Amino acid sequence: MSNNFKINNLPEYFKQYKKSIKNPKKFWNEVADNNFVWYQRWSKVLKYNMEEARITWFKNAKLNITKNCLDRHLNKRGDKTAIIWEPNNPSEEAQYITYKDLHQRVCKMANVLTELGVQKGDRVCIYLPMIPELAITMLACAKMGAVHSVIFAGFSASAIASRVKDCGAKIIICADGGYRGNKTIDLKGIVDEALAQHPSGVESVLVVRRTHHTVNMKDGRDLWLDDYYSKASSDFVTKIMDAEDPLFILYTSGSTGKPKGMLHTCAGYMVYTAYTFKNVFDYQENDIYWCSADIGWITGHSYILYGPLCNGATTIIFEGTPTYPQPDRFWEIIDKHKVTQFYTAPTAIRSLAKENSDWVKQHNLSTLRIIGSVGEPINDEAWHWYNDHVGNKKCPIVDTWWQTETGGILISPIPFVTPTKPTYATLPLPGIQPVLMDDKRNEITENQVSGNLCIRFPWPGIARSIWGDHQRYIDTYFSSFPGKYFTGDGALRDEVGYYRITGRVDDVIIVSGHNLGTAPIEDSINLHPAVAESAIVGYPHDVKGNGLYGYVILKETGETRHKVNLKKEINLLISDTIGPIAKLDKIQFVSALPKTRSGKIMRRILRKIAEGDFNNFGDTSTLLNPEIIEEIKRERIE
Ligand code: WT7
Repeated sequence: MSNNFKINNLPEYFKQYKKSIKNPKKFWNEVADNNFVWYQRWSKVLKYNMEEARITWFKNAKLNITKNCLDRHLNKRGDKTAIIWEPNNPSEEAQYITYKDLHQRVCKMANVLTELGVQKGDRVCIYLPMIPELAITMLACAKMGAVHSVIFAGFSASAIASRVKDCGAKIIICADGGYRGNKTIDLKGIVDEALAQHPSGVESVLVVRRTHHTVNMKDGRDLWLDDYYSKASSDFVTKIMDAEDPLFILYTSGSTGKPKGMLHTCAGYMVYTAYTFKNVFDYQENDIYWCSADIGWITGHSYILYGPLCNGATTIIFEGTPTYPQPDRFWEIIDKHKVTQFYTAPTAIRSLAKENSDWVKQHNLSTLRIIGSVGEPINDEAWHWYNDHVGNKKCPIVDTWWQTETGGILISPIPFVTPTKPTYATLPLPGIQPVLMDDKRNEITENQVSGNLCIRFPWPGIARSIWGDHQRYIDTYFSSFPGKYFTGDGALRDEVGYYRITGRVDDVIIVSGHNLGTAPIEDSINLHPAVAESAIVGYPHDVKGNGLYGYVILKETGETRHKVNLKKEINLLISDTIGPIAKLDKIQFVSALPKTRSGKIMRRILRKIAEGDFNNFGDTSTLLNPEIIEEIKRERIE
């Protein structure tokens, strides 16, 4: 990104913002024109129809994002470190991968995938731990025009099966195992289990060696990467992609059990992630940038990989966890690699803030210039701890609000430009037009109000569809408030127009920064033979942000099973079908759930009881069985 697009002070921000709203096409035309390499320019900057959710950016442009992430840096930055890989165990050596090395490894991987029959447009599922091959495989897919779909390596076999099935992948790339803290995860075994559930379609499983544990290799299906990679050529002819060709699919949970495959396309995503990375992290040539997210989430896609590499940055990939081998691992890494920007999640901040602050003090964090937060609202206490202990009161905190669906950051302070305010994501980035809507679908124009957060106008990074189900895309995001993109979040706008995201207004609960739909969890609880029905709500949790509280109705079979065992079995089922992140913190067995006359569970009441607030139930006149409330209150789990 050239420095022309860097915002340096508040008047410049307002100027760029106004320009971007007055004439968005002209604004993005200039950004795209000045900062990227294209095979062919676009014929039209933007075409859109918000009712039908049809959005086209940079129509007819030809490009490849990897030309921008890798090839174009080779002359000027060939020997510069692109990726610093920090292993789980600090006694293993870090790797420093230069742009030249990375380019070569990506080309070799693209040749391997080509040899295995992967072609432009094919979907490739990637189930890898945070090792360099994860980045390399994603970039190889992008280089050859294949569509990657990364599945977070904490997901269970059935979560893999449903994703592989939904996107129709022919190949899965996984590892023989993964390290996370003091645990070893049998990733290959989990893939085997997934394929036993959904055997059709997947022709090959390519296995990367990481733990060197013995794994089962199925004849004719499973292949070791080494056997192919060692022989692969490092010359690869980059595929020329159309602006709107798919770049990747990334699944996010929603209000039904079926995960939503958010589809991002080549040009708009590239332009948006590169532009926002440059401005939100004030990226300068010799910075060492670290985002501690997993690449399996959108944060990792956009701000570990694509955004930083498009800017020619040095980006850290960390395999491990914040507390292994000790609770100072993050601070040790910042010290060791002289990190200048650090980007993490409130849940990590809260858990590290619980540790003795000496863990932080032992390390030299003076290289830090900017610290960021993402994934869920950051509470006041966590904000101040982060500011005082990590930023040493001199690093602006960029509280960045965005979503898998938005591709990149939409609302965030610009460091050293926007005055920060604890718990506020502050102002929209150029090109972003937030609006608050009331429940009657009217726009709220005043300040100092709360409402449903919508975005009025498309930006280049917005997802284009849900893979294989465009109608669901329209229904989920473009129909609640016709003509606008609905985020599913509530927000408050203060007297100067700063936004504070207050949390989800739909049935998604954010636990430790992970989006969890209530429906898939309920579906998996209901699989238990003893369960008749269930309802999940979130309640405030001081580390995880939200904890999960489950209300479960048992079938009347006369059987007297031990409740403690049942609770364990229910959590085991959830672990198996979704992943350990979705396990319930509290389970209460109830004889019925509060329901309206039309049969809808009144979750509002369940939430209040879970929180321990027995007063503000609001209007309960539509309840069919108000008497159940007393029982649920009485037996609430502390
Ligand atoms: C949801 C999106 C964006 C990458 C990671 C999460 C919540 C995200 C913030 C923030 C308050 C936030 C929202 C959003 N969220 N960032 N800075 N302040 N809430 O992506 O898994 O798609 O989740 O995360 O509720 O809708 P995601």
